[in-house]
Amino acid sequence: MKMSRHSYLRVLILCIIAFIGSTEAQLQQNFYAKSCPNAEKLIQNFVYEHIHNAPSLAATLIRMHFHDCFVRGCDASVLLNSTSNQAEKDAPPNLTLRGFDFIDRIKSLVEAECPGVVSCADIIALAARDSIVAIGGPNWNVPTGRRDGSISLLAEARSNIPAPTSNLTTLQTLFGNQGLDNNDLVLLSGAHTIGVSICSSFSNRLYNFTGVVGTQDPSLDSEYAANLKRFKCKNISDTNSIVEMDPGSRNTFDLGYYSLVLKRRGLFQSDAALITSPVTKSVVTRVLQGSLENFFAEFAKSMEKMGRINVKTGTQGEIRKQCALVNS
Ligand code: HEM
Ligand SMILES: *[C@@H]1O[C@H](CO)[C@@H](O)[C@H](O)[C@H]1NC(C)=O
Ligand SMILES: *[C@@H]1O[C@H](CO)[C@@H](O)[C@H](O)[C@H]1NC(C)=O
Ligand SMILES: *[C@@H]1O[C@H](CO)[C@@H](O)[C@H](O)[C@H]1NC(C)=O
Ligand SMILES: *[C@@H]1O[C@H](CO)[C@@H](O)[C@H](O)[C@H]1NC(C)=O
Ligand SMILES: *[C@@H]1O[C@H](CO)[C@@H](O)[C@H](O)[C@H]1NC(C)=O
Repeated sequence: MKMSRHSYLRVLILCIIAFIGSTEAQLQQNFYAKSCPNAEKLIQNFVYEHIHNAPSLAATLIRMHFHDCFVRGCDASVLLNSTSNQAEKDAPPNLTLRGFDFIDRIKSLVEAECPGVVSCADIIALAARDSIVAIGGPNWNVPTGRRDGSISLLAEARSNIPAPTSNLTTLQTLFGNQGLDNNDLVLLSGAHTIGVSICSSFSNRLYNFTGVVGTQDPSLDSEYAANLKRFKCKNISDTNSIVEMDPGSRNTFDLGYYSLVLKRRGLFQSDAALITSPVTKSVVTRVLQGSLENFFAEFAKSMEKMGRINVKTGTQGEIRKQCALVNS
């Protein structure tokens, strides 16, 4: 095919425009270096100061970051209060209660230093990373410059955030929609090595698997299921008891999750799903056979990728004054 000089020029100009557009829309390491040089350090100090008294916050915060990024990108939509619409926050299951005021406290601190400069979306991303580092977990790069969105809808949380009952196909679709692959799915699920769940998130596996009361999920180790029924989720109406996802090391970021999954002791169907195909199962075994350092390095890559999902930058969105409210 022959191209005229004229069309070469057009292609060139289009490329230049696309290039300028894309460089404008990048997150960058220490974005606030000039506009609020102490911001990232302030956040880190606050997190390091408080996490030792409340290590379970680390789980809450990394989960909040995940939920934020999966709905309309990492834009702090997860923090918005319901208005005439029900917000993402009100989508069950939501164990994130304590996290919201923690973020608000950080926001006030940062606002006092530089009003109207640092986004709530960056605060979530930084606080999540810092809190995981503070409990001895992996460190990852958090380039900043995210801006805050103005829309938060419960229905979008329902349709984009995987449910604990999700099978592998659903997980792959929902992660795929965010540009995340099988490797990311298995690595990021590794965050279930910390934290807790309420019984209602998985008790169908113990008491009502096929929709007939008394049936159990055969993919859950039967000895483990018996223990959960005896000591943790004692009956089908016990919805709110709390269970550690990696029993005995809920605040330790280790390889425990992967060994549980291989022993068919992952708490959710979504955890069990990871060994239902050779592709994802081989990632589970590879990570488990590698070192903790290797897990941390791989987890870090996937986290950085997650933190970039559909971010608003440049002139998009706004810098909220209060994380729970859109600016008026
Ligand atoms: C693969 C799909 C996933 C599903 C279906 C899922 C589901 C869940 C559910 C149902 C809970 C318990 C919530 C409750 O009982 O209220 C939970 C907890 C948790 N999830 Fe996930 N999750 C997934 C992926 C992730 C990812 C990607 C991360 C972070 C990178 C993550 C981090 C956590 C953490 C840390 C907790 C514990 C929260 C706490 O202790 O407060 N999860 N997850
Ligand atoms: C957002 O909602 C929470 C819980 O209902 C409430 O405590 C908080 O004050 C609200 N925040 C704002 C800024 O209105
Ligand atoms: C969690 O969701 C329930 C309803 O699904 C809602 O009443 C509650 O306020 C939510 N919790 C938070 C912290 O937003
Ligand atoms: C996975 O779950 C979806 C949604 O519930 C369902 O439509 C699909 O048939 C399931 N796929 C498999 C392979 O079980
Ligand atoms: C058992 O599961 C079925 C199907 O999901 C549901 O309709 C029913 O309400 C459940 N029963 C109980 C007692 O939770
Ligand atoms: C279910 O278990 C809970 C928690 O142990 C207990 O308080 C409740 O009475 C039990 N309900 C039934 C119907 O057995």
